[in-house]
Amino acid sequence: MNKLMIVDDEPKILRSLRFLLEDEFQVYTSENSKDALDILRNEEISLVLLDLRLRDENGIDLMSKFLEIDPKAIIIIMTAYSTLENSIKAIKAGAYYFITKPIDNEQLKLLLNTANEKLDMMKKINSLQGHIRKDIIGNSVRIREINEIIDRVKDTNATILITGESGTGKELIAQKIHGTSNRADKPYVAINCAAMPGELLESEMFGYKKGSFTGAQKDEMGVIRRADKGTLILDEIGEMDLRLQSKLLRFLQDKEVRPIGDASSYQVDVRIICITNRNLKKEVEAGNFREDLYYRINVINIVTPLLRERIDDLRYLVPYFIDKYNISFDKKVNGITDDAFEILSNYSFQGNIRELENIIQRAVLLSISDYIDSDSLHISPQKPLFRTEKADDEFLRIYKGESMKEIEKKVIEFALENNNGNRKWTADSLGIGERTLRYKIKEYNL
Ligand SMILES: Nc1ncnc2c1ncn2[C@@H]1O[C@H](COP(=O)(O)OP(=O)(O)OP(=O)(O)O)[C@@H](O)[C@H]1O
Ligand SMILES: [Mg+2]
Repeated sequence: MNKLMIVDDEPKILRSLRFLLEDEFQVYTSENSKDALDILRNEEISLVLLDLRLRDENGIDLMSKFLEIDPKAIIIIMTAYSTLENSIKAIKAGAYYFITKPIDNEQLKLLLNTANEKLDMMKKINSLQGHIRKDIIGNSVRIREINEIIDRVKDTNATILITGESGTGKELIAQKIHGTSNRADKPYVAINCAAMPGELLESEMFGYKKGSFTGAQKDEMGVIRRADKGTLILDEIGEMDLRLQSKLLRFLQDKEVRPIGDASSYQVDVRIICITNRNLKKEVEAGNFREDLYYRINVINIVTPLLRERIDDLRYLVPYFIDKYNISFDKKVNGITDDAFEILSNYSFQGNIRELENIIQRAVLLSISDYIDSDSLHISPQKPLFRTEKADDEFLRIYKGESMKEIEKKVIEFALENNNGNRKWTADSLGIGERTLRYKIKEYNL
């Protein structure tokens, strides 16, 4: 029996979920984040059902902490606040799925069954993952350009800056640069600059001598030296604090590392690849990023496109991910129906390729027929389907003194616009019937 932890600050919900699930899982419950973290550290739990709104902590923050403890944990978010913003945040932060309260027991059970299968398969995936070829899939102009740049620069030692939104394949590009370069058989070392506070990051990067500060219990060479002769990835470099930025700049200039508390310095030969989803130029203007460092690392800039901007690549990406998960899950899905493909083509992927990959992974796992159909995509109306690219305009203004009718009219207009006038989707996203919607459109003269 797999272990499952439920985190919710309402004891009533904990009781009823425990009752619902204890036949299939060894259930642990916790009402607050501290207990939850304790349980997760002490028990090998890979499946968590987490309320997004906890009294003492934001569920998304807590989720990040879970994932630090166990990066492979499958976390399903529960929330009564089904907003697009929350679902995007949760998915970006690594949630496996997102369900809304009040919870539909059947839906939850189905989801947990899938998760269960996924857990059982995890070992298998791990052993297979090494064999799956890592490649940048796509044949759009943007991807061809990127492949050309990679080809041209891979064997130079030029510093590379990769920028682009979350899930667009930045890390994949870094891996390809290293993997095809003449450093390929040397170390590939990545450090996430956002994962720890400045001082810790400094000691991780530059190393330290035993006893140079409390907690320095042994000599540590640091990731820069670990990457010697190979490639060093500085992920989320935009998050690095200014003091460490100067230290990094000095390192880039003289290629020497002096560990904290060490009297000598060491010459290092590394190729540096920086990754960020921030606009570093703006960060420079705002005084958050050193201008000289910016010019030093921005020798070659690769900008990853949004999936929306290369939606034609779906015809390569979808079969690629189907194959990938056929192998992982030992399935035999042949392809995708035209309907389902159409839905994907019109879907606005907030999480880019990562989100697409998650959708296909889930669909392959859940598939009962040879083809992925629109139902198995599980792009539910809970997650509004934006057909337009106006997703930045997510707020609807309501003023004091407005009548219910005025507000309703605005809500409908807003939803129609977000769904590019598609009535079925608009009705779905509002949770009303198409007939009601048609009636309202007429009533409000929309
Ligand atoms: N062109 C592509 N072909 C195949 N797989 C891709 C492609 N782009 C991205 N992926 C896959 O999508 C997932 C996300 O990519 P990756 O981790 O590189 O994104 P990222 O830009 O680093 O995102 P973040 O900013 O959130 O860290 C990975 O599983 C990656 O293998
Ligand atoms: Mg990344």
